[in-house]
Amino acid sequence: MNREVIIFETGDEVAQYAAELFAGMAEEAVAARGVFTVALSGGSTPKTAYSLLAAKPLQDQVPWDNVQIFWGDERTVPPDHPDSNYRMAREAMLAHVPIPEANIHRMEGEAADLDASAASYEQTIRTVLDIKGGIPRFDLILLGMGDDGHTASLFPQTAALDETERLVVPNHVAKLNTNRITMTRPLLNNGGCVLFLAPGAAKAARLHEVLEGPQDWHRLPSQSIQPQNGRLVWAIDKGAAVQLTGNYIIHGE
Ligand code: 6PG
Repeated sequence: MNREVIIFETGDEVAQYAAELFAGMAEEAVAARGVFTVALSGGSTPKTAYSLLAAKPLQDQVPWDNVQIFWGDERTVPPDHPDSNYRMAREAMLAHVPIPEANIHRMEGEAADLDASAASYEQTIRTVLDIKGGIPRFDLILLGMGDDGHTASLFPQTAALDETERLVVPNHVAKLNTNRITMTRPLLNNGGCVLFLAPGAAKAARLHEVLEGPQDWHRLPSQSIQPQNGRLVWAIDKGAAVQLTGNYIIHGE
């Protein structure tokens, strides 16, 4: 499998790596094709990376005019809600960088009709990435891993995991008694580079199962992210890696 697992000393180093990868890829993509398309992840882990991108020197490296920002998933709350993934990215990064508002594409988690909201987001993706049929390809997709092995809002044993046609769907998450909107596996697995950020000792046991246990991706949805023609990187720290036994890349060695 084409998978890179990189172990950093600390979570801050993971964030630095993610921010530098984003900035470097943005520079290259815009120079080569005039646009950089990225799907952001929610949760708390990417916040530090977003803040680094909002500050010098990385802020100056990113050609913001040509960056198109999307989200891999969203909670069903308004954009100013403390749980909103959009709000977190806006506060940590987007409010502090010179990106045109028209380049920021948030999922409307507050919509009364989530199905229509997901369908409209799929249409926006197709329009901005300029692909009518087939599966669009984001340059970079950031993901996290929840303590139950979920990623984006693909939770264990939920319907969205089996979606094969639609790019974005609402997903009922019974154990949280809520709905989410999420990108689906066909779209996530077509990314040019998929980067998981999963530092922290709290993730160690699940990470061991996801990376080294038997394949069972209905139970461990993070296992189902295996881009066919893209790069898959897991950036973790020593705390998250304590139970791993494989021979992985140790950053700096
Ligand atoms: C969300 C996410 C989700 C997240 C993981 C990890 O909306 O909750 O996008 O998939 O990335 O739950 O979250 P933490 O970074 O907070 O551990």
